[in-house]
Amino acid sequence: MKEIHPQKQMLDLCLRLHQSNHAYYSGISEIDDFTYDKTKKELIELESKFPAQIQEDSPLIQVHAEPQSSFSSRVHRNPMLSLANVYSVDELREWETGLKKLLKNETPKYVCELKIDGLAISILYEKGILQAGVTRGDGIQGDEITPNLKTIAGLPLKLKKPLDLEVRGEVYLSKKHLLELNQRRLQAQEPEFKNPRNAAAGTLRMLDSNEVRRRKLDLFVYILTEGPVKERHSENLELMRDLLLPVNPETQSCNNIEEVIEFCNQWENHKDAFPYEIDGVVVKVDEIQLQKKLGFTAKSPRWATAVKFSAEQAVSILRSIEIGVGRSGVLTPVALVDPVELNGTLVSRATLHNYDQVGRLNLHLGDSITLEKGGEIIPKIVTRELSSQTSWQICPPQNCPVCDFPVFQAPGEIDWRCNNFDCPAQLNERLLHFVSRRAMDIDTVGPALIEQLTLKHKLCNPADLYKLQISDLEELERMGAKSAENVLKAIKESKNCSLVQFIHALGIPHVGEKTASVLARMHGSLQDLMECTPETLEGIDEIGPIIAESVVVFFDNQKNVKWISDLLEIGVQPRNPETSSNSGIPFFEGKVFVITGTLSEARDVWKDRLESVGAKVTGSVSSKTDYLLAGENAGAKLSKARTLGVQVMTEKQASEELS
Ligand code: IVH
Repeated sequence: MKEIHPQKQMLDLCLRLHQSNHAYYSGISEIDDFTYDKTKKELIELESKFPAQIQEDSPLIQVHAEPQSSFSSRVHRNPMLSLANVYSVDELREWETGLKKLLKNETPKYVCELKIDGLAISILYEKGILQAGVTRGDGIQGDEITPNLKTIAGLPLKLKKPLDLEVRGEVYLSKKHLLELNQRRLQAQEPEFKNPRNAAAGTLRMLDSNEVRRRKLDLFVYILTEGPVKERHSENLELMRDLLLPVNPETQSCNNIEEVIEFCNQWENHKDAFPYEIDGVVVKVDEIQLQKKLGFTAKSPRWATAVKFSAEQAVSILRSIEIGVGRSGVLTPVALVDPVELNGTLVSRATLHNYDQVGRLNLHLGDSITLEKGGEIIPKIVTRELSSQTSWQICPPQNCPVCDFPVFQAPGEIDWRCNNFDCPAQLNERLLHFVSRRAMDIDTVGPALIEQLTLKHKLCNPADLYKLQISDLEELERMGAKSAENVLKAIKESKNCSLVQFIHALGIPHVGEKTASVLARMHGSLQDLMECTPETLEGIDEIGPIIAESVVVFFDNQKNVKWISDLLEIGVQPRNPETSSNSGIPFFEGKVFVITGTLSEARDVWKDRLESVGAKVTGSVSSKTDYLLAGENAGAKLSKARTLGVQVMTEKQASEELS
């Protein structure tokens, strides 16, 4: 019998295993489990006999991995962003309308993909050889978990062509393997994983890749970020498939939004049939050129969205109602329910928005209700399942739960309000908003300090902050001389705020930071803004009738005018936007930037560019920093920004905002 050279035999076995792995992930079962296991066994035997001949892309390579002591972190070459969500057909159509507006009526084609419930990963190949796998981390840098990634059978260690690539995908555990893992954990008296996402995350973080291999992670790649990128995303998927990378076979190109909707509806009805958990559909613009035109927001690409038509629901019992009092007195009922699991978290509170909603749902204490988690952080009650048969109907209170003042509902308004401008709850909310980071940014004044000072009647309005003496602070609990000094210093520094910050800090209903920036730009000074009429406001593109009315009503209230003039009198001097900032961009205006790392252009170029659109560039990261512009090899400044919660921006994102 002719003897086959072991090296050749090993090469052949590797190829067969790679091909069948690939076929498996493409939805075609090429060989049966028995043949697959036999082939794998043969390779294991040969590799242990001839370790020097092991192929660098052997699908068994993970067997030889040594446990790691820790993971090193690695900065992503392009940020790993998240996706925005839509929750209905209407929202999906609105998303497309927005795209068309930005594309000046060019209509894109789309690709629909399943949204696999797992963990995002970036995978790097050099000359076709797998180099590294990096978790998403904070989107800017993640953990390099290469040995763990190599345990995934469907991921080729060597591509069909010697290309340099960065691909992204989702690592997940199939329903079957999650069940097996949870059974083992139960036996070992360890807590079960609630969902595949937690299981995949927990597994990828394990230091012993032999245990990782036992858990049988899987992967689908869904984007080609770097490499020989084609003109269409669908062609990139095809290219990745040709290179033997695992691309989900359920992916579909759609010519228009109607076809996208059809795909989403179809998937809804079949999601239980898949061997892995799906939490929606991802819709992507197919043309790369159009993707580039659309660009990114700070958090997600504009050219893609996740579609989640049916939000997760759970049934619970409504036990009581807590009433929140906002800074303009609006009463918000919050339902307290028996704790129930929703999307892998235990939920015991649900928003009811307002009493109109309570009436519409005809809610009674003790009712069995359905909760749903949509786009909001706090879930909402969507239906009443069963009446409790009690007579405890939920009605608006007659008096404010905090100050006992009678509540009222203005004609034409849905909200019930506490009408006491000096209500402690309103004052507390007003002060918290005033000092917050995006407003006056007085970071040494937090909720505990505000509570103590209001109780002692030292703070009756925001202007009182500037009247505080060191003795007022030193007599408070846990306040040393040094801390007291720091508090006063930060309050004093805030006197030199920008007009945008100041307008935002006033807490005018419906006026967020963006609107504050528009108002500052259009009016130029606080005095001008305070004298405006609904007509002048509505003349501004970005301002609609609701905001206009709200601004005018706010400045008509003499109590508001009083604390604003107190602030000005005491030396708060909002900086009017400079005249040159006509060319400014609202996003950058007044924002404090720090630049770090290696950028594609000199730092001075970036500095000039940012300053010319209204930003301020400083040298070191502090709580005053709004954004860190980080290039490659960003070091200490990046770590500090992360510790302080300062937003990190890449060159690409900054360019998108500038364009
Ligand atoms: S594209 C730039 N495609 O969903 C954003 N993401 O909620 C690229 N995910 O972080 C993401 N399946 O972990 C994309 N087919 C798919 C996906 C997918 C699952 C995950 C991914 C992402 C998260 C956003």
